[in-house]
Amino acid sequence: MSMIELKDVHRTYGEGHAAVHALRGVSLSVPPGQFVAVMGPSGSGKSTLLHLLGALDWPTRGEVVLDGKNVARMDDNALTRLRRERIGFIFQFFNLLPTLNAVENVCLPALLGGKSLASVETRARQLLGRVGLGDRAHHRPSQLSGGEQQRVAIARALVTDPPILLADEPTGNLDSRSGAEVLTLLRQACDERKVAIVMVTHDAGAARRADRRVDIKDGLILNDQSQVPESP
Ligand SMILES: Nc1ncnc2c1ncn2[C@@H]1O[C@H](COP(=O)(O)OP(=O)(O)OP(=O)(O)O)[C@@H](O)[C@H]1O
Ligand SMILES: [Mg+2]
Repeated sequence: MSMIELKDVHRTYGEGHAAVHALRGVSLSVPPGQFVAVMGPSGSGKSTLLHLLGALDWPTRGEVVLDGKNVARMDDNALTRLRRERIGFIFQFFNLLPTLNAVENVCLPALLGGKSLASVETRARQLLGRVGLGDRAHHRPSQLSGGEQQRVAIARALVTDPPILLADEPTGNLDSRSGAEVLTLLRQACDERKVAIVMVTHDAGAARRADRRVDIKDGLILNDQSQVPESP
């Protein structure tokens, strides 16, 4: 079974002379426990692809099936639940809420999903411990380094135990050591929890930590290859 399935997906922005064909027929299937790195030049369609995989956007043509469900057939409630509970998101600029401390940031997705603080906080603290930030639970984002903020964001992405994790340039703003730590955490999520991960990156070294590398250019997959992941 695939966690993620794209079938001949096209995404065109705008119309007529202004139309931009960001994706022009992309098919991709990702099973549980596979870590996929997506590489490609600026403007090749990587973020567009990730938005479709996160049900944050819809294809102009083709099908997106996530966690066994065709997103085109889901109503708003089901989509909100899918995004909140079944998909974790990690971004280049961390996207933590500045007024919340680390443990509150980690709890947030589960609280929005209707869980009680009591039931979520233990798990959030465990996850912060797992990412090496057990002693930073009460620090706000501005009191944390970039690498620490990104580790909080990973803990947050995992708090609902999602089967899908999507990351857009998660190491793009980090020094190489913090970047390597972040990649090790993604690797662990994939190996231990069988999370299906799709990570967009410009860093060939980061891509070598994945099980599979997909190169896209001008909205098309140029190359799609399995690889033995490199150790840190
Ligand atoms: N909302 C939008 N409206 C119109 N065009 C868009 C929109 N979003 C993206 N595009 C265009 O679609 C193409 C693909 O954009 P996308 O953001 O997916 O590229 P990318 O591979 O993520 O690039 P980068 O590496 O710079 O982040 C680009 O030509 C871009 O200008
Ligand atoms: Mg992008």
